[in-house]
Amino acid sequence: MDWQTLYQAALDARLRAYAPYSKFLVGAALQTSDGTIVTGCNVENRSFGLCICAERTAVAKAISQGYDEFVALAVVTDCSPAGLPCGMCLETLTEFAKDLPILAGNLEGEKRHVTLRQLHPSPFEWPDNLPL
Ligand code: THU
Repeated sequence: MDWQTLYQAALDARLRAYAPYSKFLVGAALQTSDGTIVTGCNVENRSFGLCICAERTAVAKAISQGYDEFVALAVVTDCSPAGLPCGMCLETLTEFAKDLPILAGNLEGEKRHVTLRQLHPSPFEWPDNLPL
């Protein structure tokens, strides 16, 4: 796993964030099973509820490009400790990867490795008996 390259992709993506309201720029980079890196940044909106996080931008981009197997995620923020994916992003990620290795880092160079399962051990499970 080339964390350096993945992390650099997230750093670059962070600079493309559209975050005029929070001024909190986030970059994400997903590595797919064939080694492709798909990046994302947060995209805010004047109607605040429409803001999308960097991680979910990356997921949506990857799926739309035909990738649905993810093997690693890097996220870059500018806070300490380095920001971890929010709950909505964790739930979104569990749809495609149950135990994704995640590297969260910040601009000071602090880095922490966690797993999706550590952060979100009990994702929603689609009930077998859902009355559809
Ligand atoms: N944000 C992300 O991009 N990822 C997260 O996991 C949490 C928060 C963004 C959303 C918003 O644009 C800004 O950070 C402040 O919440």
